[in-house]
Amino acid sequence: MRDINQFTVTKAVKESFKTQPGSRFEQLLQGLIDHLHDYTREHNITHEEWMGVLNFLYDCGQISTPERHEFILLSDVLGFSALVDMINTKGGATEGSNLGPFYLDNSPRKALGSDLADNRDGVTVLVHGKVTDSLHNPLRGAIVDTWQADAAGTYPIQEQEKGQDKYDLRGVFETDAEGRYYYTTVLPKPYTVPYDGPVGDLLRAGNRHAWRAAHLHYMVRAPGMTSITTEVFFENTEYIDNDAVFGVRRSLIAKIQPMKDISALGFELEKEPDAMFEFDFVLAPEG
Ligand code: BEZ
Ligand code: FE
Repeated sequence: MRDINQFTVTKAVKESFKTQPGSRFEQLLQGLIDHLHDYTREHNITHEEWMGVLNFLYDCGQISTPERHEFILLSDVLGFSALVDMINTKGGATEGSNLGPFYLDNSPRKALGSDLADNRDGVTVLVHGKVTDSLHNPLRGAIVDTWQADAAGTYPIQEQEKGQDKYDLRGVFETDAEGRYYYTTVLPKPYTVPYDGPVGDLLRAGNRHAWRAAHLHYMVRAPGMTSITTEVFFENTEYIDNDAVFGVRRSLIAKIQPMKDISALGFELEKEPDAMFEFDFVLAPEG
């Protein structure tokens, strides 16, 4: 390997790894080396630029904690997370979107019709819809796990030192015999992703803002179906066309409507809503 130069080094590095021929690991590693080396040659990367990238990654590691994963945030603002969500959305199913850092896997079970807001300020909205398969057959007993920010754009989990309960503004519902879920909550407001670290520096360097369009998070699952992780956004709201993490998709935008007579739906609601919207989730079969 003495007669190595900027063109033969790529092959030499690829051949240095003795991976299982044809394995996924081999494909991904060899592809990564190809792309990284091509990029480096194409842009004539200088020592200063090379060190800049490595120091940036070092800083991402330094600021990361179990609660703050700066590399995920980096993936989010580069659209990498969105791309993985898009590639992994199953045909016919609701499109996937950003998980974000605030999911808890043991949220409280709530009865259909519950209010998630516990007298918080804001517009009380009735959220309802169905969970179905791709042929519109309702899925009874599907689980709709939701979490969200409040009307100031804050997740209660971010304000535990101010006495907030981290399990507020979240809940796990089970669909009824018609595949329906329904509850009330406050409409969330936009908020910023953390921008006091290296990813914030990157956003500033690129003249970008850190705001996310207001959204509700969902994880929906049912036996025999592929679970989805997604978000629901609202028509004509701020940042809907320039969400900092590229989470918005046309199919995930709901239209908030004034309350109308819903007595025919037979919902028993804990709190009277000011407005409502409907959003159906579609799950594809497992496998
Ligand atoms: C969120 O939606 O909660 C979120 C997503 C990406 C970064 C920070 C927060
Ligand atoms: Fe969020």
